[in-house]
Amino acid sequence: MEKVSVSEVLTNNYTVQVATTEHLHLAEAICHEMEESAKARGTGIAKRSPEYLRDKIKEGKAIVATDDAGDFIGFCYVETWEHGKFVANSGLIVKPEWRKYGIAKAVKMRAFELSRTNYPDAKIIGITTSLAVMKINSELGYEPTTFSELPVNDAFWNGCKSCVNYDVLTRTDRKHCLCTGMIFDPEWEKNKAKRESEAIKEKQEEHEPWNFLKDVNVLERLKSIKEKMFLKMQAKRAERQAV
Ligand SMILES: CC(C)(COP(=O)(O)OP(=O)(O)OC[C@H]1O[C@@H](n2cnc3c(N)ncnc32)[C@H](O)[C@@H]1OP(=O)(O)O)[C@@H](O)C(=O)NCCC(=O)NCCS
Repeated sequence: MEKVSVSEVLTNNYTVQVATTEHLHLAEAICHEMEESAKARGTGIAKRSPEYLRDKIKEGKAIVATDDAGDFIGFCYVETWEHGKFVANSGLIVKPEWRKYGIAKAVKMRAFELSRTNYPDAKIIGITTSLAVMKINSELGYEPTTFSELPVNDAFWNGCKSCVNYDVLTRTDRKHCLCTGMIFDPEWEKNKAKRESEAIKEKQEEHEPWNFLKDVNVLERLKSIKEKMFLKMQAKRAERQAV
């Protein structure tokens, strides 16, 4: 099996796509795997019912990876808060026997594309303790952030209630927990593109040969200042000679 790094993947081994009604029957198996993984990690996970996952699939807000037999091997879904101001690609799961082959990366990339297409102005956020997820998010352009930058409404934080560390979050007034907050801000991206093009322009100018015509106005002014100074000096000399 080869490692992959592209968002839409169709190999001999598996397919990654936006889930359709054909995938509704996979919801139970996905939920089961989410719970088993949470137990194995000793942490919590935003607990979701098969019904909730089926709704996400019906709304076209879920990404699924399936093997050649059509069985689920990876999954995640898109959630929104504060009227689409914030979007998260949550509930990422890959079946244990399929891990470390780039499936999470492919699923997250597809979810990211879907989120950018449907909510181009939204901030894409996530909280995680998973190094794999941090790596994937960083590659997608997320940056670490404080919890104060994340949605303020209860609906977002309610997802943490099933986590074993929930008391840490409540004790700190939702300021800190074991998870790292990450955010992709489309505004940064716009500014980044602008900064990059300015930096390229500056670099090009540094290497450009001196353009005499471009600086001609400055030179003209310099010349006229020098001429005035020279004339003043001559006038003073003539005054001194006359005395
Ligand atoms: C986390 C999880 C989704 C990763 O799935 P995966 O398909 O194995 O991940 P990928 O193969 O796409 O790996 C992506 C990157 O993370 C790295 N990675 C994968 N598992 C890792 C681990 N356990 N520790 C550190 N890095 C890891 C990979 O090496 C890769 O990095 P690279 O791009 O530098 O090579 C999977 O382990 C899982 O389902 N875990 C249980 C549920 C979970 O923790 N979900 C996340 C909740 S926020």
